[in-house]
Amino acid sequence: MSTPSLEPAKITTVQQGLLDWFAANRRDLPWRRSRDPYHVLVSEIMLQQTQVDRVIPYYHAFLDRFPTVQVLADAPTGEVIKAWAGLGYNRRAVNLQRTARHVVDSLDGAFPHDVEALRSLPGIGPYTAGAVACFAFEQDTAFIDTNMRRVLHRLFRGVDVPRPVVPDREILGIASAVLPSGRGWDWNQALIEFGALHCTARRPACVVCPLQAACCAYPAIQSAIAAPPVVRATPGPRFHDSNRYYRGRVLAALRDLPDHENGNGIDLQALGQQVRDNFTEADVPWLYGVVKGLSDDGLAMVAEETPPYDAGKDESGPQLRVRLP
Ligand code: ADE
Repeated sequence: MSTPSLEPAKITTVQQGLLDWFAANRRDLPWRRSRDPYHVLVSEIMLQQTQVDRVIPYYHAFLDRFPTVQVLADAPTGEVIKAWAGLGYNRRAVNLQRTARHVVDSLDGAFPHDVEALRSLPGIGPYTAGAVACFAFEQDTAFIDTNMRRVLHRLFRGVDVPRPVVPDREILGIASAVLPSGRGWDWNQALIEFGALHCTARRPACVVCPLQAACCAYPAIQSAIAAPPVVRATPGPRFHDSNRYYRGRVLAALRDLPDHENGNGIDLQALGQQVRDNFTEADVPWLYGVVKGLSDDGLAMVAEETPPYDAGKDESGPQLRVRLP
């Protein structure tokens, strides 16, 4: 069944227009020069939640330090977390290494080519499985991230602000229906690029858009975006008060431990003094909660250490020590 917005003539127009736009406007990004699934995976994981410009130097440094999936799998997790320092969302580093270890231990170091098999790897969701199948193995497969979803919604379903009118499931169906056969790599990169540079969330360049005549969101999108944003009644917590802020501070303190000390880790009292002003004994349970969360995510290790029986007069009992994995 074809809906008016998915008529073959429109699909052809959009395909040609977007591929032409991409050919003229694409950025020369390092991961676009590679078809190595390990390189593609590293880039795609880094690009989740992080801007292209920030990712580029990390991508190069990471691949210098861990040039193959085997090297990454063999590395101590603490080293991987250190290489990730500054990118944020550190759980991505741990998950990436988990995937690498699975590929090395269970698949002889070879990434599967098809989406279903990629999807079954630990730490790989539908977007990443599609991206690796397409960008490394040049498979014609459909998947969506935020940028792709926005572009497809606007082109084929209409205005997406203040919120999309159709669910992701339907957008994924559209993504499959409009994917030009044999051009999956260019097409999916083009959708990502168009969403990042041209059809942006808040300032789409509709006036000079090559797809304007075919777009279901034009011209209504322009007034929808110009409407003042809804102001939230209650402000959220300040970043400095947030759990994410302190997780970052704790990880930074663990990364900065001298190598010989990282082996033993650091006790909660000393750690607390590094991460929070005016830290007192009463804050230890709170800090333990932060550390426990990091440990649950594979980003830290907590060990209980009982001082030697005759260590001295210390009556404080077992001590918790924290370190990188
Ligand atoms: N974001 C996610 N994947 C990307 C890619 N391959 N190129 C640019 N930005 C991206």
